[in-house]
Amino acid sequence: MFATPIAATTRYCAVYGHPIKHSASPAMQNAGMAALKLNWRYLAFEVQPENLRDAIAGAKAMKFIGLNLTVPHKLLAVDLVDVLDESARAWGAVNTIRFEGMDGDGAWRPLADLAGAASENIRSHGFNTDADAITRSIGEDLGIEIRGAAVLLLGAGGAGRTAALKLAAEGVAELFLVNRTPSKVTGLIAEIQQRFPEVKAHAGYPAPTRNIDLVLNATSLGLKPEDASPFDATQYSLNRAGAAYDMIYRPAETPWLQSARAAGCRTANGIGMLLYQGARALELWSGLNPPIEVMREALRKNVYGS
Ligand code: ATR
Repeated sequence: MFATPIAATTRYCAVYGHPIKHSASPAMQNAGMAALKLNWRYLAFEVQPENLRDAIAGAKAMKFIGLNLTVPHKLLAVDLVDVLDESARAWGAVNTIRFEGMDGDGAWRPLADLAGAASENIRSHGFNTDADAITRSIGEDLGIEIRGAAVLLLGAGGAGRTAALKLAAEGVAELFLVNRTPSKVTGLIAEIQQRFPEVKAHAGYPAPTRNIDLVLNATSLGLKPEDASPFDATQYSLNRAGAAYDMIYRPAETPWLQSARAAGCRTANGIGMLLYQGARALELWSGLNPPIEVMREALRKNVYGS
């Protein structure tokens, strides 16, 4: 897939993060943009949190099509964009910004739609495409119907909290929550009970004889080879779980995911989350159907080299 050569008419998107050098988003997004025959490029910038406001304003001034934000910018950006989409409000985080201009009728339109006629009146519109990507990846990569499912979730940090609330919003029947710091589980259960009272949320592992549909690792344990397991096998057996999902995708299979596969679970890693959040961002920017398989291949090649 060959991209149109860069010219004065080329438009830009970018990801801001700190650190950013391992980001696979440029490989995935540039492949997607080329497949859609867009004369766009996707760049990556190391941006310190204290410079995020200026960096967003710079992209706006240069009529970038949009931005992605990654660690540690997603929460900060909630207060820095001009308007928040419902998705960003619901999850309290912005990972995608779309720049929009006012058309002749006074309506806000994505800059991609306004072509050369972009007005100088531009706003930043903040979205969250991460939360949908979690449940889409679980659904598509593991074939799990979330509605009515029983899920054991390991981790109640930023990613764990979003996963728990999104699963609850999708109608999960029962959630078992485990975290090193128990107070985060208590707080999360209170939030689930308030927002989604029909979901049964419990602190701790399911009873040993209980079968569940999915175990989901949302802790950072497994990123480093010396990490302890996020899962306590003395409390519950993976033989009783239908599937296991590890949000970690580097390494492709953490020791925990390997043990889940050995126990007969269907398994998937978090590469699908990265793919679907990016595909949705490209859709928001372009209004076009994102080329999922092209993006998946580019991502795989970038992260795993094959
Ligand atoms: P993220 O945004 O990726 O979720 P985070 O909010 O820092 O990052 O959350 C990291 C998760 O991994 C948390 O659930 C954290 O547990 P705590 O809430 O107790 O901090 C978990 N985690 C990280 N290091 C851990 C360790 N050494 N042992 C157990 N859990 C760990």
